[in-house]
Amino acid sequence: MALIEPRPIIIGNWKMNGTSESLGEIRLMAAMLDGVAIGCEVVVCPPATLIRTVHEMLSGSRIKTGGQDCHPEPQGAFTGDIAAEMLRDCGATHVILGHSERRHYHGETDALVCRKVTAAHRAGLTAVVCIGETEDERDAGQTVPVVARQLAGSIPDNVSAENTIIAYEPVWAIGSGRTPTTDEIKQVHQAIRDQLAERLDPQTTAAIRILYGGSMKPANAGAILAIPDVNGGLVGQASLKAKDFLGIIGLFAPN
Ligand code: 13P
Repeated sequence: MALIEPRPIIIGNWKMNGTSESLGEIRLMAAMLDGVAIGCEVVVCPPATLIRTVHEMLSGSRIKTGGQDCHPEPQGAFTGDIAAEMLRDCGATHVILGHSERRHYHGETDALVCRKVTAAHRAGLTAVVCIGETEDERDAGQTVPVVARQLAGSIPDNVSAENTIIAYEPVWAIGSGRTPTTDEIKQVHQAIRDQLAERLDPQTTAAIRILYGGSMKPANAGAILAIPDVNGGLVGQASLKAKDFLGIIGLFAPN
């Protein structure tokens, strides 16, 4: 059987940005994409407080909505936490998990991320699992081993191309305006694909999307998205403005 190239996906991570005042950008995104052919899937992950509203505003558009984290359990005495089922209930189809900001500021381990990925699957959400090295790890030549260790520990065995997306986000590239070279990105994405091949069948391995994230913007996205094994992007700052976000989405030839 021929291996199918995955359909690219661009995911916007709004992080802790956005109040009802920001909804104008969502309205603009929907209007700018209305009737326009696009060559990728698109997901916007606003803060939890806006997920339902954004989902309702985007109904009828091709833009999906996602969360930025979830708790491993479906319900219970976990003040302030949000279950995957609750995200689903608000209209989310995706959830970002194991983002380096969660790992750093909230001490999330690979094992916890793995439980969250299982929770996302339980709720019918696609998990967007983030991995990436710090600058010190890169300087020590440890990029591939670090990413491999995170990947091994952060995904359960039953992942599929439908329920899981991997996002490679070098920590030092996030919000810094710096990115790895295209060769460096290519090497890491290839290593991730090779590692997936050790656990998954060839069809699943080829179909799982591996995204790049970290200072992606319209000006550099074309070169990054053309790298083999880069199947889309996880976009922070540039996803907050419809014009920038659509500047990235528009780089894919419509199909
Ligand atoms: P920036 O695009 O702002 O660097 O953020 C990347 C990121 O962390 C997306 O999850």
